[in-house]
Amino acid sequence: MEEKKQTIYDVFDQESPIATEMRRLYSNIRHIDGRAAKRSFLVTSANRGEGKSTVASHLALTVARFRGKKSLIVDADLRRPRLHEIFNVKKEPGLLECLMGEIDPLEAVKDTPIENLKVIPAGRRVKSPAHLFEGEVMSEIFEKIKFYYDIVIVDSAPIIPVSDPMLISSVVDGVIIVLLAGMTPRNVAMRAKNILLDANANLLGVVVNNLSEVLPYYYDYRYYGYTEDEKT
Ligand SMILES: Nc1ncnc2c1ncn2[C@@H]1O[C@H](COP(=O)(O)OP(=O)(O)OP(=O)(O)O)[C@@H](O)[C@H]1O
Ligand SMILES: [Mg+2]
Repeated sequence: MEEKKQTIYDVFDQESPIATEMRRLYSNIRHIDGRAAKRSFLVTSANRGEGKSTVASHLALTVARFRGKKSLIVDADLRRPRLHEIFNVKKEPGLLECLMGEIDPLEAVKDTPIENLKVIPAGRRVKSPAHLFEGEVMSEIFEKIKFYYDIVIVDSAPIIPVSDPMLISSVVDGVIIVLLAGMTPRNVAMRAKNILLDANANLLGVVVNNLSEVLPYYYDYRYYGYTEDEKT
């Protein structure tokens, strides 16, 4: 018997450990420095496949469902886009078309079955998207979407091989780094952190994604041992 493919909407369980952890993550990062509540977040990692898209998607669903805020998730990983699959929306037009100046960012927004959760997918594929994130257009896009949405979550490429996330970090309120438990070497995680700090990114926390336990854990990066290593 053929089963219908399960979507994130079917799988997501508000009472699950992952939803609980995402709520904890969100309430921690929102007011981490005691200043005005943060509303836009970049989710990235040192390298590929550490769970960025998974964490970004669950965080967006959690915020949309529990806080009832107008939420938007943006697929800024133009190389390995995934959000259109995760949220079952059309892939085009998306961020690429906005970056090319072809459409207004609001025209790229796709609906989901959750009323206050919208998606901007990656858009069509281009060979070398790096330079697209360098110009004024990128900041204008983010200014606009931050104006229209209460919460903006950006899924991105990894930091070490690609410069896009570093550039995006300047237009969001804060950055969350995803590490894969037992896999991401410490020096690699440190390098990723330093690239972001050199770009003046506001590093909010580390999510340790644990594949075997199917549970990401959140840590404030200041308590994660990052800072001690810096002195040595
Ligand atoms: N906690 C988890 N439990 C089970 N599977 C997971 C978990 N986190 C991620 N995965 C799976 O691992 C794969 C990679 O995860 P994901 O796509 O979120 O990583 P990514 O960092 O966005 O990768 P990329 O660098 O390719 O964009 C996916 O198939 C995802 O479903
Ligand atoms: Mg991804």
